[in-house]
Amino acid sequence: MPHARGRAQADLERAGPTEVGGNIMTESTAGESVATQTPTKEALLSAQGLQKHFPITKGLLKRQVAAVKAVDGIDFDVYKGETLGLVGESGCGKSTTGRLITRLAEPTAGKIMFDGKDISHLGTGAMRPFRRDMQMIFQDPFSSLNPRHTVGTIVGAPFHIQGVKTPHGVKRAVQDLLKLVGLNPEHYNRYPHEFSGGQRQRIGIARTLALKPKLIIADEPVSALDVSIQAQVVNLLEDLQNELGLTYVVIAHDLSVVRHISDRVAVMYLGKIVEIADRESLYSNPRHPYTVALMSAVPVPNPRRREANQRQRVLLTGDVPSPIDPPTGCRFRTRCWKAQDICATTEPPLVVREGDAPGHQTACHFPVADNEEVAGRTAAA
Ligand SMILES: Nc1ncnc2c1ncn2[C@@H]1O[C@H](COP(=O)(O)OP(=O)(O)O)[C@@H](O)[C@H]1O
Ligand code: SF4
Ligand SMILES: [Mg+2]
Repeated sequence: MPHARGRAQADLERAGPTEVGGNIMTESTAGESVATQTPTKEALLSAQGLQKHFPITKGLLKRQVAAVKAVDGIDFDVYKGETLGLVGESGCGKSTTGRLITRLAEPTAGKIMFDGKDISHLGTGAMRPFRRDMQMIFQDPFSSLNPRHTVGTIVGAPFHIQGVKTPHGVKRAVQDLLKLVGLNPEHYNRYPHEFSGGQRQRIGIARTLALKPKLIIADEPVSALDVSIQAQVVNLLEDLQNELGLTYVVIAHDLSVVRHISDRVAVMYLGKIVEIADRESLYSNPRHPYTVALMSAVPVPNPRRREANQRQRVLLTGDVPSPIDPPTGCRFRTRCWKAQDICATTEPPLVVREGDAPGHQTACHFPVADNEEVAGRTAAA
């Protein structure tokens, strides 16, 4: 962990809120500020057939009558040094996926490989060394910090819990972390309520970094923050990644945040990954109707692009079906304007389509072609 004030801090001082405010979804901002790091293609984490069904029980005997199929068989890799964005509407299983891969939840089926080791069913003791390597940042910086503890206690807790020795003491280590995330080390004795939302998220990030994790799962890390502050926290996460060689999974329902920060993006729908690709490939050639619909929901600030976007507008309406009894075949078929008979009977596999970029996988029988006219389509029940 560097002791000097990081580049993250210097960058944030340069970038005032007016400079970055609200721009995180623009083309130019996204294009210019994306991490320059080239990820290696070695998987740090690999999920294979991962499943989480929450049982629904009834009566005194707690007989299982059904299950919420929150995550229903997903496969993906997270490469060392990359950021994988995980995106989809609320309830599609993003947080559960995050909890599964950090083993905060026990998978119903499937396998999780971390750094070459199978951690799918490790117990608390066996998981302990891995706990240091994988950390989560949560959405709500207000509820994730104990209001009765000082910043020093909060950020220093991981050292005590894991029994980690620090060369110059825990206080100095905590103060270094506060500097690293752009906070004043003199805030050590302050309480969370004395900070703004953005500052609290920085405290949460400092705590996350304490044990030098390899993988950080950020679950909607900026959703609870003002738009102007969102850009700053996203920039901080990117700078920390470059400085510390971190690997991220960033969960968001908002495609704009994911676009800015991700090297690759996985789109989830009702417990399944429906499309996964390099960011460029996904945004320039989305194939799955759901991805197209999600994308056309993102506001476009540039007027010329806005016009082009209007021509490609799909209205995503209607509710997501229940994960207790998802539609047969393709789960998106009840909202898809391209659905045909086969979509109800046969689940489309997640595969690379002919002509698509390597690694661009889509689960659809009738993927959207380049320049296909989709304007005015309504993706609804
Ligand atoms: N502990 C739980 N018990 C029962 N159902 C759950 C539990 N946690 C999540 N779910 C359900 O699993 C589905 C996926 O939830 P979640 O992973 O939180 O989605 P997302 O993060 O994409 O909004 C939802 O239908 C949710 O209600
Ligand atoms: S498989 Fe069929 S229903 Fe599903 S997204 Fe593709 S076209 Fe639509
Ligand atoms: Mg969630």
